[in-house]
Amino acid sequence: MNTKEEFYLKYKFAKQMLETEINILIEEFVFKHGYNPVEHVKSRIKSEESIMKKLEKKDYDKTLDNIVSHIHDAVGLRIVVSFLSDVYDIVSVIKKSKNLIVVDQKDYIKDPKETGYTSYHLNVLVPIYLEDKVSSLEAEIQIRTIAMDFWASLDHKIQYKFPNEIPLDVKEKMFENSLIIKELDKQMMHLNEVVNKYDNKK
Ligand code: GTP
Ligand code: MG
Repeated sequence: MNTKEEFYLKYKFAKQMLETEINILIEEFVFKHGYNPVEHVKSRIKSEESIMKKLEKKDYDKTLDNIVSHIHDAVGLRIVVSFLSDVYDIVSVIKKSKNLIVVDQKDYIKDPKETGYTSYHLNVLVPIYLEDKVSSLEAEIQIRTIAMDFWASLDHKIQYKFPNEIPLDVKEKMFENSLIIKELDKQMMHLNEVVNKYDNKK
């Protein structure tokens, strides 16, 4: 492995490559379907401090090689869409990309986490073209609806506020809310389909 600076520079390139590829895939989708399912896209590089904390938690030595092998979300990108069906449309578009190789996928919509967390996760290899060689780095893509994002952002705040143990009543309420979110997403998707049919009759 090279110097630490070079190492983090590669993560910066991976983030830029991933953003560009995702933006192109979305634009192509909009062109083909005449409709933009995406509310917003956000990407980030995990801070060195968070990366080190995660290695420590997983009981790995704090080496650059261990970051590559065991930290799968050092580069993260989130795509927030309007409706439930949009999540699966976007997942399918990403899977068809010639530039991204899917190495892992988790459908937490079909199988929510026990907290109630829902999202679709895709881990992909992003190519990086350097002066002397081509390499790749893993990145995590999270795809979710606005409602799921709303839930996850409060959950994130709760986790931050109670780093040791989340009070049981808060946990239970969040789980209950995750069921409401699930029902709301279903209802909104169906209503959208009804509205679209009205449009077609004009
Ligand atoms: P690591 O990737 O090693 O953390 O573990 P993992 O592979 O089991 O986790 P996964 O890839 O399923 O999820 C990792 C990311 O999903 C986290 O960094 C969060 O952004 C998000 N996530 C997972 N569970 C929760 C949750 O209960 N609440 C919220 N708000 N986000 C979650
Ligand atoms: Mg993960």
